Amino acid sequence: MSKELRQLNLETRSRVDEAVETVLAEYEKRGAAEFALQSQIGADEWNDRRDEFLIAVGRDTGTLLNILVKATRARNILELGTSYGYSAIWLADAARKTRGKVLSVDLSAKKQEYARSMLQKAGLSEYVEFRAGDARDILRQLPGPFEFVLLDLWKDLYIPSFDLLYPKLAKGAFVAADNILLPEAYRPMGKEYRKHVRSKPEIESVLLPVGSGVELSRFGETI
Ligand SMILES: C[S@@+](CC[C@H](N)C(=O)[O-])C[C@H]1O[C@@H](n2cnc3c(N)ncnc32)[C@H](O)[C@@H]1O
Repeated sequence: MSKELRQLNLETRSRVDEAVETVLAEYEKRGAAEFALQSQIGADEWNDRRDEFLIAVGRDTGTLLNILVKATRARNILELGTSYGYSAIWLADAARKTRGKVLSVDLSAKKQEYARSMLQKAGLSEYVEFRAGDARDILRQLPGPFEFVLLDLWKDLYIPSFDLLYPKLAKGAFVAADNILLPEAYRPMGKEYRKHVRSKPEIESVLLPVGSGVELSRFGETI
């Protein structure tokens, strides 16, 4: 969120149970420490060490994803980019309500191990299945149809991943792509992604200035 918007004191209201809230608070404490460290070390060191960090979507975007999954009653939920599991918690909490399941993909089985332990603490284990490997290989194997997708990989993979999942989207599916506006260095890639998504025949798409900027795209004919 920009400094100007922060000054307006805009508050997100999330409704999750105590176990989930405790786990989210633990992540957010770790995230705040990493954010402080980021301002001390240079961009190069941050990039070299990026696998150590959560690099999570944050509470505003987490709440948005949670609301969208519930609103669309999505059951087949795909997450590309588990990292340490912060966004998976928000998606799993919504999946519990829709009686759905999240399939969460990341290159790192080690990060997913951590995510698994946090989901267990939150009482959400049964709503997430993990797959470790390159998201593009995994996408080629998955049959779909996906009803809700979070796209949150390293940013150069957004367009190839979108192209692989596009034919497997259910009618009315949503694809939410994070980091379209922030960090600023990624903004040109975000712009390319938005242009690419808009070139598809069955897509309607809007950029939401929530968190780091979320491109929200809906597949299928208009109702
Ligand atoms: C920004 S983080 C995801 C943050 C997570 N969604 C959250 O909010 O907690 C991006 C993740 O994408 C993963 N990743 C990068 N390239 C990948 C690839 N080719 N296949 C699968 N995962 C990949 C990285 O390991 C990293 O954990």
